[in-house]
Amino acid sequence: MNGPIIETKGLSYFYSLDGQREIRALDNLSLQIYEGEYVCLIGPNGSGKSTLARHLNALLLPAAGEVYVDGLSTALEENRWEIRRRVGLVFQNPDNQIVATTVEEDVAFGLENLGVEPSQILKRVEEALELVEMKPLARHAPHLLSGGQKQRLAIAGILAMRPRCLLLDEPTAMLDPRGRREVLATVRMLNRQEKVTVVHITHFMEETLEADRIIVMDQGRIAYSGTPEEVFSGNLDLEALGLEMPPIPALALALRQAGLPLPLGILHVEQLVECLC
Ligand SMILES: Nc1ncnc2c1ncn2[C@@H]1O[C@H](COP(=O)(O)OP(=O)(O)O)[C@@H](O)[C@H]1O
Ligand SMILES: [Mg+2]
Repeated sequence: MNGPIIETKGLSYFYSLDGQREIRALDNLSLQIYEGEYVCLIGPNGSGKSTLARHLNALLLPAAGEVYVDGLSTALEENRWEIRRRVGLVFQNPDNQIVATTVEEDVAFGLENLGVEPSQILKRVEEALELVEMKPLARHAPHLLSGGQKQRLAIAGILAMRPRCLLLDEPTAMLDPRGRREVLATVRMLNRQEKVTVVHITHFMEETLEADRIIVMDQGRIAYSGTPEEVFSGNLDLEALGLEMPPIPALALALRQAGLPLPLGILHVEQLVECLC
């Protein structure tokens, strides 16, 4: 494995309330994300996930500690544009991310800001829309798209900038089941096929089952980091963190506890069926 594409060292961050009291949102947090990884970030509300995401593309700057992207420190102003290009952030609300009146103009917007040549822009917009399977909608008005399509459009806008890493902060939270499936499938394909490093924040536990690694946050710190098999093995007290087991691991665990000789680490229904038959 290559060196980390993203690294934080002793990262702390405080929000100030009414100019006096301070809330510690990140507490001496160190982590490494490696090139090509698919990392899911979970944790209770207020555990610091969004604050961390905003540090990873230099939207927020550390109160203490450091953040590096491809070895570039976010502390240096001259690095910040490049960091934001290399690490694209998709937010929860699909409506807040639309800036233009057609799908293709929306994807082109970021490239124009970067000063990319017009002929290049056309090519990259087409490529990005192709990747998220939105090319037939290029001339459509973004506000008429479904939630899932809007999020795929937001992803295309980032892909056009040729990022190294895609950060997604609860991108499916406001979508219907179909939109969630579309966005998840797109993100997985980009990771597996296009080798984009993915950091995906979610409160839907079943969305984490295909991650390479899950990082569990609590009170601005990393409470646990491990594979989905490890996180959902029953050894980690998820309930204490206000988190739920996804249905299949929960069922497998209950069956084991009831005495069925099932192996640890069952995540998917196919695995469960195979073991039971
Ligand atoms: N803009 C803000 N002003 C003040 N406090 C904030 C702000 N944003 C987040 N916080 C606080 O920082 C902590 C971490 O929040 P956040 O990073 O949003 O967590 P998460 O994304 O895991 O829900 C929480 O205690 C939250 O209330
Ligand atoms: Mg959040």
